[in-house]
Amino acid sequence: MAGQSRIGVTGLAVMGANLARNIASRGVSVAVHNRTGSKTTEFMSEFGGEGDFTGTQSLQEFVDALETPRRIIVMVKAGKPVDGVIADLTPLLDKGDIIIDAGNSHFPDTVRRTAECEANGIRFMGVGVSGGEEGALLGPSIMPGGDPEAYAEVKDVFEAIAAVVDGTPCVVHVGPGGAGHYVKMVHNGIEYADMQLIVEAYDLLTQVAGLDAHAIGKIFEEWNSGDLESFLIEITGKVLAKVDEKTGGPLVDVIVDQAGQKGTGTWTAIDALGLGIPLTGITEAVFARGLSALRAERAAAAKTLTGPTPATKVDERLVDDIREALYASKVVAYAQGFAQMRAASVQNGWDLKLGEMATIWRGGCIIRAQFLNRIRDAYAEHPDLDNLLMVPYFTEAVANAQDAWRRVVVTATEQGVAIPAFSSSLSYYDGYRRERGPANLIQGLRDFFGAHTYQRTDAEGAFHTRWAQDGTEVRTDG
Ligand code: 6PG
Repeated sequence: MAGQSRIGVTGLAVMGANLARNIASRGVSVAVHNRTGSKTTEFMSEFGGEGDFTGTQSLQEFVDALETPRRIIVMVKAGKPVDGVIADLTPLLDKGDIIIDAGNSHFPDTVRRTAECEANGIRFMGVGVSGGEEGALLGPSIMPGGDPEAYAEVKDVFEAIAAVVDGTPCVVHVGPGGAGHYVKMVHNGIEYADMQLIVEAYDLLTQVAGLDAHAIGKIFEEWNSGDLESFLIEITGKVLAKVDEKTGGPLVDVIVDQAGQKGTGTWTAIDALGLGIPLTGITEAVFARGLSALRAERAAAAKTLTGPTPATKVDERLVDDIREALYASKVVAYAQGFAQMRAASVQNGWDLKLGEMATIWRGGCIIRAQFLNRIRDAYAEHPDLDNLLMVPYFTEAVANAQDAWRRVVVTATEQGVAIPAFSSSLSYYDGYRRERGPANLIQGLRDFFGAHTYQRTDAEGAFHTRWAQDGTEVRTDG
């Protein structure tokens, strides 16, 4: 027996509950379910009056409440819980029903689940949803992956609930299989890089410019009205301005300096290593969180390992230089993240439209920023762009910022302040713009110890030098 609700949501923790409320607020009927039934009861008594909800206590009741083909959003913790829900739902569903995993699942799991569901006649979609609790309620950025025909069955709902920028909803069918969760993973990786760049700027403004949290908060507030305008810069101003009720000082000064993480940044970095894509910004951001977590070791090292004591440098230019360094490093981090998505798209045959990814990230999500309009424009003009740095707007932006960027890296290095994302981004830039780098010597060394061969600049073919014998060169490929 098929019911009347247009869509179902199982998993009523904050994200699931808010997504269900968002859907209902658009006039769409929603059946809700939670493994622990009392949560559904609570949800219904608190929010049931907001829209056309059907609260259900068992999975059977939930499934029966849905019109066919059934559209079921699963919003549970990534990993085993998702497999558990799929296993429980599968025997209750009909062929053609759609399971939508809207959590932060790792994309290889999505690829596997898509195949497993397909074998049972069920259509599976892995959908990235960004924007945190508020975004889920008021309008997230949505990155749906999977069967396009399944997407057609939910497109109107997704477009109704997504954030809207300049009349365009922040949702587009990203690609088949794991593409949606892949793009969400890279989004989170970029989120890591953006935050790392922000904290490096904060660190320099504290350690070198000698400013307090309140003053730095004001600087971020100002920065938010220029090229850097973005959600993360905006909330940095707010976090730095927050006064701690207990101490009366800045709250940030009493927060432990140890960053948590749930794994998406690490997945992004590992994936880039597999693809052979230099992803220094995001990867350094992951490493920096790892270093932050070595709190006890750092406390010991602070007493043992020496370095310069940062001296407050009264330099008019410093604040502006840091802003330029932040912007240039951000351009590099995005250039790298988009290059990674391009490589993954080619490898997996996803046909990702990178301009569309920039478009749907303009609103709703954590990395929403003005800046993404520039990326969207870049791909509109050059859909097959190798690297964003090659587009005149970004080429010029980095060219204009580079003197300041170099000064910041020099100052931080001299003063002993760690800036892994600023400096690695600059090294990437300097490496990328070299027609001939130093890897010729790596090839010579590899050939010396392992006869791995090398190519010559002046002849075709593969060559080996008999280093340990007579020192002569031989051609090894014919
Ligand atoms: C989003 C966020 C969201 C979440 C991350 C945080 O797009 O809404 O990215 O997915 O905040 O999981 O990740 P970490 O806990 O790893 O920092």
